[in-house]
Amino acid sequence: VGDRLALTPPMGWNSWNCWGLGVSYDRVKSSANALIEKGLADYGWNYINVDDGWQAKNRLASGEILPNEKFTDMKALGDELHKEGLRFGIYSSPGNSTCGGFLGSLGHERQDANTYFKWGVDYLKYDLCSYSDNVAGDTTLLAQQKPYMVMRDALKQQQRDIIYSICQYGIHDVWKWGDAMNGNLWRTTEDITDTWESLYNIGFSQTNNAAYAHPGGWNDPDMLIVGRVGWGEGLHPSNLTPHEQYTHISLWSLLSAPLLIGCDISKLDDFTLNLLKNREVIAIDQDVLGSQAIRIKNRDQIQVWQKKLHAGGRAIGIFNLSNAYKTYRFTIPNARNKSYQIRDVWAQKNIPNKSGTVVFQIPPHGVKLIKI
Ligand code: GLA
Repeated sequence: VGDRLALTPPMGWNSWNCWGLGVSYDRVKSSANALIEKGLADYGWNYINVDDGWQAKNRLASGEILPNEKFTDMKALGDELHKEGLRFGIYSSPGNSTCGGFLGSLGHERQDANTYFKWGVDYLKYDLCSYSDNVAGDTTLLAQQKPYMVMRDALKQQQRDIIYSICQYGIHDVWKWGDAMNGNLWRTTEDITDTWESLYNIGFSQTNNAAYAHPGGWNDPDMLIVGRVGWGEGLHPSNLTPHEQYTHISLWSLLSAPLLIGCDISKLDDFTLNLLKNREVIAIDQDVLGSQAIRIKNRDQIQVWQKKLHAGGRAIGIFNLSNAYKTYRFTIPNARNKSYQIRDVWAQKNIPNKSGTVVFQIPPHGVKLIKI
């Protein structure tokens, strides 16, 4: 229990980026069903995570937490998901209330962990949020770690493997201590939105935490913003261009990031579906070595990120951050013998090359994702 969980980054769906606080049983079920009908579950997308907004206004007199009228029976939901081969995730906060103003777990950690066990929960996202109000604004590292230790210990008592997602927005370099909380993933940033600016600021700043990612403990640059998103306020197609979406999925895979789809899966368009069903791209994210990519070049609005792979090769993303097409001459480093293959990962095709050199045309805000 614990140290053998999340040996590759968790993959699945989370309700927040589409439904916000309007999450309901029907919406969760329709995404879970669609995940299966559209074949995504076969590609490893199997966590169904209910984010904020499921809690009733009050606890029972015994202190036990209940779902609100949009959910009725959480145990039944867990059972239904498990029957389909899916896993069940839930959300809470260590303070009196969550970010969305629903009940948090402060003072009820052990009881809530027991309840999650009863419901068959496989994943808990524990979101710092209002906690500092509960400790009179004490934002020292120790004050912020404390509630995570309490929940860690409560989860450990359960006869069930529950992935522990520490949502701390990168505070106090959470990647340095997430492991000590038994965290399986820890949020390194503020919330992502579906703009290039947000994607750029979050994705391309994941440079200091690479050494801390490993099987069982992952840096989490937040969820995917592809497909129809909207945080419960009118769903719309992601504002990212198609090239930006390739960049998003390529970079997150290179970063060994947890992959949580945030859109309404029942209304997935073909482009997004293809984006999420490329086995070779997913394999880079899920590579069992669990090594996170590092940036090896940053010049003239081109960034090159490289990830070591278990089988000995490398996955390399060449990103064009400018607003115009760019030509990039790629040469395999140290290609003494000329037998290296260069593979275009999105196209799933080998690229003919002359002595390890290829010239790529990279679209604006786009990427060439290759494997050597
Ligand atoms: C915070 C988190 C989000 C989401 C909301 C829910 O903003 O960062 O991912 O869980 O809270 O209220």
